[in-house]
Amino acid sequence: MSLLQTHRLARSFGGIRAVRDVSLTVEPGEIFTIIGPNGAGKTTLFNLISRVYDADAGQVLLDGQDITRVPPHRVAALGVARTFQNIELFERSTVLDNLLVGRHCRARAAPLSELFFTRANRRAEVAHRDKVEQIIELLDLQAHRDTTVGALAYGVRKVVEIGRALAAEPRLVLLDEPSSGLNAEETEDMSFWIRDIRDDLGITVVLIEHDMRLVDLVSDRVLAMDRGAVLAVGAPAQIMADARVVDAYLGG
Ligand SMILES: Nc1ncnc2c1ncn2[C@@H]1O[C@H](COP(=O)(O)OP(=O)(O)OP(=O)(O)O)[C@@H](O)[C@H]1O
Ligand SMILES: [Mg+2]
Repeated sequence: MSLLQTHRLARSFGGIRAVRDVSLTVEPGEIFTIIGPNGAGKTTLFNLISRVYDADAGQVLLDGQDITRVPPHRVAALGVARTFQNIELFERSTVLDNLLVGRHCRARAAPLSELFFTRANRRAEVAHRDKVEQIIELLDLQAHRDTTVGALAYGVRKVVEIGRALAAEPRLVLLDEPSSGLNAEETEDMSFWIRDIRDDLGITVVLIEHDMRLVDLVSDRVLAMDRGAVLAVGAPAQIMADARVVDAYLGG
């Protein structure tokens, strides 16, 4: 069964049909990339999947379960994590604390017992820290773990935001333009992180990306969008050579 499926998903803003009739499937363990010119509807599609926006029509299925109408925090608890096109982190907190916040949706709801430092709470706290330390190691953030996010270079902040998403132990992570604002060397590093997320953590990755070299390096399949609609889906080389895709970029 596909891990993620959308069926004729649609959303308009005023007269703009930002996403129209988008149907796609993402298989478990896949790295699936969405490309398309500015304004194609890529981020809106992420916002529909992660339930930031309501769909006007269509369905989103996660592992066969209809999540089209469930609230965003439920989607997170069901195993979908994401990053944002503009980094969203707590600037005044350390890297470690930002990653611990990422575990929020894994915390048990036990407000009263949290008042007491019980043995169970202590065990849960240790488990959270272990998980976060594992992510710090995976993303090579050791040197920055106690640094305030606001003091970090932009490229490092992008990695921290991915770490925050991974801290939730998702089954599926949505990355909105992970390489934007990065230099060539950082972009190449990013391609390694993306593959490590899939290979070492077993997390399925859907990303939106403009850097075609990165797209080619990491993607199992690519979906091209234009003006809210799907143009083509296929292997990276096939999509980049597709006349409709080339036209969409030149037209935009
Ligand atoms: N909250 C909103 N209110 C009004 N219009 C919106 C809103 N969100 C998106 N849109 C419009 O929907 C269309 C698709 O926008 P979206 O951000 O999804 O594009 P994108 O493919 O992510 O573009 P980019 O590559 O620039 O990030 C655009 O015309 C945009 O202006
Ligand atoms: Mg966008």
